[in-house]
Amino acid sequence: MTSTHAMSPPAPDTLQANGPRHSPWQLHATRIAAIRTEAPGVTTYTLTFGGHRAQRRFRFAAGQFNMLYLPGIGEAAISISSDPESLSGIAHTVHTVGNVTRALARLEVGDELLLRGPFGVPWPLADLRDRDLVLVAGGLGLASLLSAIAFCMTHRGDYGRITVLSGAKTPADLLATHDHHRWRDHGIDVHGIVTNPDPRWQGPVGLVSMLLDGLAIDPDDTSLLCCGPEPMMIAVAEQATARGIAREQVFVSIERLMGCASGLCGLCQVGPFFVCRDGPVFSYDRIARWLAVPHL
Ligand SMILES: Cc1cc2nc3c(=O)[nH]c(=O)nc-3n(C[C@H](O)[C@H](O)[C@H](O)COP(=O)(O)OP(=O)(O)OC[C@H]3O[C@@H](n4cnc5c(N)ncnc54)[C@H](O)[C@@H]3O)c2cc1C
Ligand code: FES
Repeated sequence: MTSTHAMSPPAPDTLQANGPRHSPWQLHATRIAAIRTEAPGVTTYTLTFGGHRAQRRFRFAAGQFNMLYLPGIGEAAISISSDPESLSGIAHTVHTVGNVTRALARLEVGDELLLRGPFGVPWPLADLRDRDLVLVAGGLGLASLLSAIAFCMTHRGDYGRITVLSGAKTPADLLATHDHHRWRDHGIDVHGIVTNPDPRWQGPVGLVSMLLDGLAIDPDDTSLLCCGPEPMMIAVAEQATARGIAREQVFVSIERLMGCASGLCGLCQVGPFFVCRDGPVFSYDRIARWLAVPHL
């Protein structure tokens, strides 16, 4: 399979675009090594593989996702939220919403968790070297961008200015705030914003798009990566293009119900694309017209 990004495909070191090289049905057995509460209803599970060999074989690129599988219950598509170059396990940051994620919330450290993956087109970080990056997250959307931030920290010298804009409903819902000082130590600018502040909140109040409004950017040299609720991504992408960033340089990660996760069942179809195979990361110029179609 080949990359369907308008830009050149990711370098081999950033791994497979458009689906796994292994069988999509292959199950990996992992153990839960750590569980951390991130926000109300949001938990990060760190998973380790049985031995270094299995760990080394499981390589992914920032922006890809796994199908977490609980036998007898079902599967859920979940972004990999950890550093793609770390060999000490992989992480998933999960919002408890339904059957699979509720069952996941009942698991404990040491329990087995099966998964298939990795799947999907990653953030095109290898193509964005030397550019300024603006990463915009709405709520849990930060989960998909966390692995990109980790990658950028390791390869900090390859990029220009990097800014993370993170929005949530309440201060308690802002994810990964404990990591902000580490990101800043790596020269990454971080700004948070909430719509429902509490009395201790001293930051800005409003939608994350407000932060983008106030940000000084050089549109010719800037690429924007965005993940969050679809109306938020459309608003941010439109604002970015109005500020002069080319539509080809705006990337969004979209969600659809997943079945096979490998381009076979059609459940995730959006216009001419299968989100599991052609996405979840799309450049805005390719996906914009399909995002605007209600109920698609
Ligand atoms: C590529 C991709 C990456 C994803 N990454 C993540 C991730 O990193 N973390 C994560 O928590 N989720 C992520 N999701 C969303 C996740 O796959 C769904 O939330 C999934 O439906 C959860 O499975 P479930 O069986 O628990 O819920 P289901 O039983 O499928 O859903 C139960 C109920 O929850 C509602 N629901 C479904 N999804 C959401 C949602 N996102 N928010 C609020 N309500 C919802 C449904 O409408 C339904 O009413 C991702 C989805 C895709 C396609
Ligand atoms: S989930 Fe089956 S084609 Fe995408």
